[in-house]
Amino acid sequence: MTGRGFLGIVETDYQKTGEGRDVMSITFEQESGIFYLETKESSYQIQVDEYGYLLHLYYGKKVVGRMDDLLTYYDRGFSGNPWEAGNRRDYSLDALPQEFPVQGGGGDYRSPALRVRSQKGIYGCCLKYRDHRILPGKYSIKGLPAVYASQDEAETLQICLEDPVAGIRAELLYGVLPERDLITRSVRLSNFGQERIHLEKVASACLDFAAANYELLSFYGRHAMERNWQRSPVNHGSFVIGSTRGTSSHQYNPLLILADPDTTEDFGNCYALSYVYSGGFQAEAQKDQYGQVRLLMGLSEDQFCYPLEPGETFAAPEVILTYSGDGLNRLSQKLHTGIRRHICRGKYRDGQRPILLNSWEASYFHYDGETICRLAGQARELGIDMVVLDDGWFGRREDDNSSLGDWYFNEGKMGMSLECLSQRLHDLGVKFGIWVEPEMVSEDSDLYRAHPDWVLAVPQRGPVRSRNQLVLDFSRREVTDDIYQRICDVLERGKVEYVKWDMNRSLYEAFSAGTKEPGRVLYDYMLGVYDFLERLTRRFPDLLVEGCSGGGGRFDAGMLYYAPQIWCSDNTDAVDRVRIQYGTSFGYPACAVGAHVSAVPNHQTGRVVSLHTRGIVAMAGTFGYELDPALLSEKEKEEIRQQVKTARTYGRLIREGLYYRLTNPFTDGVGAWAFVSEDGSEALFQAVLLEMHGNMTVSYVRLRGLKSDAWYREESAGRRYHGSALMAAGIPIPANLGEYGAMQLYFKEIKT
Ligand code: GLA
Repeated sequence: MTGRGFLGIVETDYQKTGEGRDVMSITFEQESGIFYLETKESSYQIQVDEYGYLLHLYYGKKVVGRMDDLLTYYDRGFSGNPWEAGNRRDYSLDALPQEFPVQGGGGDYRSPALRVRSQKGIYGCCLKYRDHRILPGKYSIKGLPAVYASQDEAETLQICLEDPVAGIRAELLYGVLPERDLITRSVRLSNFGQERIHLEKVASACLDFAAANYELLSFYGRHAMERNWQRSPVNHGSFVIGSTRGTSSHQYNPLLILADPDTTEDFGNCYALSYVYSGGFQAEAQKDQYGQVRLLMGLSEDQFCYPLEPGETFAAPEVILTYSGDGLNRLSQKLHTGIRRHICRGKYRDGQRPILLNSWEASYFHYDGETICRLAGQARELGIDMVVLDDGWFGRREDDNSSLGDWYFNEGKMGMSLECLSQRLHDLGVKFGIWVEPEMVSEDSDLYRAHPDWVLAVPQRGPVRSRNQLVLDFSRREVTDDIYQRICDVLERGKVEYVKWDMNRSLYEAFSAGTKEPGRVLYDYMLGVYDFLERLTRRFPDLLVEGCSGGGGRFDAGMLYYAPQIWCSDNTDAVDRVRIQYGTSFGYPACAVGAHVSAVPNHQTGRVVSLHTRGIVAMAGTFGYELDPALLSEKEKEEIRQQVKTARTYGRLIREGLYYRLTNPFTDGVGAWAFVSEDGSEALFQAVLLEMHGNMTVSYVRLRGLKSDAWYREESAGRRYHGSALMAAGIPIPANLGEYGAMQLYFKEIKT
């Protein structure tokens, strides 16, 4: 194209010279109007075109040179041409790839990232480039979780778009972490007009792909069966997943993966979008009339209509993008490291997490202080670090019908004070953890009786109950302040070292008895939760918070910013867990996956699986127990002592090693995976035989990530293996393991 060029960009000295810049991952080319975002293995290009529209040129394998030759200009029937293009019929935003498509912004009929309504009911705005800045370090987002990085690890690009007629400004934010191959996106929307506007849809990231042939991986589920793997072609039309539940949900995880059809675990192109947000979301893959594919990730449109007064700004949650040219496993590893090193925070980010014994499946609501002390005694004997007092210790809670909100210790039931229980546990040398569900209230509670207007409910209508509980209005500061005080008091008095932050129902009514407009309640609710968690983790820097929402109903990168581990599922059945943890592994590191050994027959499925298998499956997560050791035989206790030792021995490798999915337990008869140290010198291989048949055939599982030129010793049998052989021919999974039998092998490089 001729005559196209870029208008009016002012470069700062910082951008021109690069002086004092620790990383040079973002550059701007004045003459072409192109922004180049470079990571170790990927390139991302954006262009400001001659009309000031921001076009997306490319995201994918690292390339050299400008990619605007990919843009094509034809007269396409029934695709509009923006006013300022004059009588050019070959310029249509309905066909051009865009960076932040807006409804009403120049003739794009595809799904937009932003939809705005003015006071007069006019839809749409038309955002054009105004200016940009390139800044050292990674931007943060006030009130929201986001990737963090030091100045020498990241750069920020801020592109400001404006519509003077609508009075709307959009600051697109890009964080580039070159060594991690991560690019983050977010947007800040401001109203600089004279009248209030309403945001009706806000997606933080849009990716337009010119090519047509892709497949999509998404993760669906239900309570106690989260993150099932699904792979399907991107067909014409829209594929939309999301959550309208006010949480990221059990039903769909806020993670989308786009892949070439021939992409496997270790071959091919693929992209991930992971939403750093724990509320409702919407993720879309749209294949348009020209066969182009658009991906969007953002807030759920359901009950969302956010008012912005003149002068106000709205911050959208962040999306993490990553690309792999070497298959899905590598893509997941990039997300794992990104989340582990740039989302998770605090004392437990890198360190060994306490191995815990949780009271829930051991005794549910039926315990007193002595029961918990007995559990602590057993824990100590078995080498377990911590006892977690789960649901039932507060108010008058004997079952799940009462007392949520009454966060004071039930001395009558417990037969002792909180201080006394804590002292007795600590005297035994065992840490003390406690369960809370701060966002909830029971109608049968002193809190609800005192403040019936503190719940989310439609005026004059009875709210929907779920687990017989209602949702507290965390969009209101007086509500969160009150609960915060109650919870802090418990943590302080009990010298509590761990909190399991639970959330056992979905939101339904987005109505606040405060003065708020309904369309902002769900988003403000999440801000309230995040603010609470931020205050809590600052006030108790040594506290370990484990997220939970009926197991894995709020398993997302947003929660991991405050809670470095999340209870992965209420389903503790080792066989189901192989599949749940497999699905989870696509987006999240093993050190985030709360996993426990529980009793058999399993309380959720009735299945009986050996203690050995249960131990191996739980070891692929944070590891702990959820059973009553008093009911175990001496032999089983001895096995647990060994498991605890093993979990400690391999703890670091599991936390910090690279995770390899070696089979797909949704399609294969074996579930197998491995943790391999980054230098390839050691590997922990774990496998479960999921199916047994007559005259059983043998499965061979190939290892990955080892050195192909090194010898290894396998610890249990002492046998030598060559890395090349383990990766080429694999390991036979012996049929005599039996159904649900498991094996674990540890390989260490033999250094001569
Ligand atoms: C949720 C959690 C469980 C347990 C119960 C207690 O379901 O996921 O682990 O804490 O609540 O009520």
